[in-house]
Amino acid sequence: MSSTHTAPARAAAAGVLFDGLLPQPPDAVLAVSKMFREDPRPAKIDVGVGVYRDANGHTPVFAAMKAAEARLLETQETKAYLGPEGDFGYLERLSPIIFGRGAAADLFGVQTPGGTGALRLAAELAHAGRPGARVWLGAPSWPIHAPIFAEAGLEVISFRHFDPQTQALTFDETLAALKGAQAGDVVLLHGCCHNPSGADPDLDQWRALTEVILERGLTPLIDLAYQGLGVGLDEDAAGLRLVLEAVDNAMVAYSCDKNFGLYRERTGALFVRARAHAEVVRTNILKIARCAWSMPPDHGAAAVRVILEDEALTALWRGELEGQRARLQAVREMLADADPRFEPIRSQRGMFSMLALSAAQVEALRRDHAVYMTGNGRINIAGLRAETIGPFAAAYDAVLRDTKA
Ligand code: LMR
Repeated sequence: MSSTHTAPARAAAAGVLFDGLLPQPPDAVLAVSKMFREDPRPAKIDVGVGVYRDANGHTPVFAAMKAAEARLLETQETKAYLGPEGDFGYLERLSPIIFGRGAAADLFGVQTPGGTGALRLAAELAHAGRPGARVWLGAPSWPIHAPIFAEAGLEVISFRHFDPQTQALTFDETLAALKGAQAGDVVLLHGCCHNPSGADPDLDQWRALTEVILERGLTPLIDLAYQGLGVGLDEDAAGLRLVLEAVDNAMVAYSCDKNFGLYRERTGALFVRARAHAEVVRTNILKIARCAWSMPPDHGAAAVRVILEDEALTALWRGELEGQRARLQAVREMLADADPRFEPIRSQRGMFSMLALSAAQVEALRRDHAVYMTGNGRINIAGLRAETIGPFAAAYDAVLRDTKA
């Protein structure tokens, strides 16, 4: 018997493409910014998303960047495509800042849309090389690391590397976990200014990490998104350089979002060393990039290149970055002075520290005190200033007391 259904009715009965989608929770970091914006209370405090703020709560465009952008506007004569690698001058000038002089000779670099683009590209490359490859990821981490890897088809293996209660690295647990890794696995390491904990390995610990990487045949993927905001440009890359002195295979995901204040311009880079497979890795990176974004957005990288090509602008940028670093450190000192429970924050580094708070306590801070942080208790140090340290410490104290009572 022939169906009496019309063609559209048959199609509707068979369902549509999007029927299988499940609703997704809001992004763990960006959702906090939205809630903050919608809160009408004037004394609200935003220690959520990782964006630098000055002592007036403002996220400035670096003066060096303004000058570079003006120069770019005047001198740029075409916007014709550059190619999937992006701006070679940008990559060439950035390399010695990351790797030290002469050290990047056998690394292949491509410009990416932000550090996130670099991480996704690295993940896709790992999956292309070894479908479903395993990534070892110390918890806590940036909440978007695991989903980026999972989206690319990798298997994420989580282990504890930091204890919010003691505010210390659980480095023995890290080594023990990585000793269970197998050749061909990837290990994600934060180059500096660990997000969310602010707790970085010391150089001896970087040496121990290098040993286990070599012993187990792992490929390090080093995420360097805050270079210059910890101790200094060279100091913040010291662990990464130590690893790169020793290994044949490595990936480095770099972000200029914070240290050049470029955030929404999406300016990053992926550098890969694959000593026995350099050419095939290069062609795979280019293919993945071409299929994902074709060419990276130009403006931010071109402006970084203009800064780094010019000694005076480079000096200006370094000085401004140093100013941001010093302010982060000053806020750390103020917090530690305000409440002895914040003492570990003094010696942590970069934009973040992570308080040992439950999800309910984080929620109470939002609801009752208009203090906005990510759900894991991470605070953006730059979100505080002299006038808000007192109210922040009081809110923290009140929430801990309420929970005890
Ligand atoms: C953060 O962790 O807050 C930043 O890296 C911004 C982001 O994209 O999440």
